[in-house]
Amino acid sequence: MATVKTLLWLGLFLSAFGITTADVNSVPRAQNVHWVSLDFTTHLRWSVTSSDYTYTVRFSGEGANWEESPNCIQISASECDLTQSLKASDRAYSADVLTEITDMDYELPHTYSSKFNPYRESNISAVGFTVEPLDHRRVIVNITDPLTSIYDRQKQLSIRDIFKKDLNYKISYYKSGSTGKRDVISNSSMTQIQGLDEGESYCFMVAAFIISRPKATQQGSWSMQQCTERASGIPLGLIVVAGFIMLTVLIVIVTVTVLCCRQRNKTLQTSQSSAPV
Ligand SMILES: *[C@@H]1O[C@H](CO)[C@@H](O)[C@H](O)[C@H]1NC(C)=O
Ligand SMILES: *[C@@H]1O[C@H](CO)[C@@H](O)[C@H](O)[C@H]1NC(C)=O
Ligand SMILES: *[C@@H]1O[C@H](CO)[C@@H](O)[C@H](O)[C@H]1NC(C)=O
Repeated sequence: MATVKTLLWLGLFLSAFGITTADVNSVPRAQNVHWVSLDFTTHLRWSVTSSDYTYTVRFSGEGANWEESPNCIQISASECDLTQSLKASDRAYSADVLTEITDMDYELPHTYSSKFNPYRESNISAVGFTVEPLDHRRVIVNITDPLTSIYDRQKQLSIRDIFKKDLNYKISYYKSGSTGKRDVISNSSMTQIQGLDEGESYCFMVAAFIISRPKATQQGSWSMQQCTERASGIPLGLIVVAGFIMLTVLIVIVTVTVLCCRQRNKTLQTSQSSAPV
């Protein structure tokens, strides 16, 4: 008899538990939780199925405790800026998006993000650069290291400050009108490109290239291409020579014309003076 009673109680308890679990389960969890990161500005984004709830984001670096990000507590937005919470060192972070419910008896429904390591995965934007001719066959490509949103003691860090020797640049260039491209990887923000054909126009594009990263995230966005002017050394010389030749021809023509006319005038005068007396 006692066992039947226990079983009954157990059954009652289980069904009650089942109902409450179902209630908690019907609270919408954040979906499609993902990271978006450009030049170390890093946001966590997710989608929601109901606007009746607020969300709190917690994060943790590998092997560290969960922490809440101060600007992502009970927010109704479906995005949270974690830039200032994540260090730029080579370390993976996880985040967890909790749906806030008022009934605190239950663990909040939540969704984990994938792991994210800004050092390896933050996208790098297109860089600015200039191309200056050095002589007929060489140019200097001067790249400006983009700034990130990371500060160290009031100083805004560039990607060079963060990646140091890991930061290389890929420079891709081609001769105007030809299809062959050449790629150069440089470990410096200022690079000399040599062996160009004299007097030709070349077009250049540049992208950050982080050697320690996995292939999929190694290269930043390509910059807009920049082309050098056609005609520097030799063609300028040609123009000068052509100018000289034309000037000489002009002088010769003028001289000949003047001499001819004088000759004709003279003959005319002589014929006039030798006219009937
Ligand atoms: C980086 O850019 C690629 C291509 O636009 C995009 O698919 C990816 O989600 C971005 N990654 C991050 C972390 O923002
Ligand atoms: C390279 O560019 C930077 C910034 O744009 C500039 O300060 C520097 O003088 C340039 N160097 C050369 C050699 O052009
Ligand atoms: C960059 O590359 C040059 C030659 O390509 C090398 O001599 C130099 O040591 C390198 N610098 C760094 C900081 O790796």
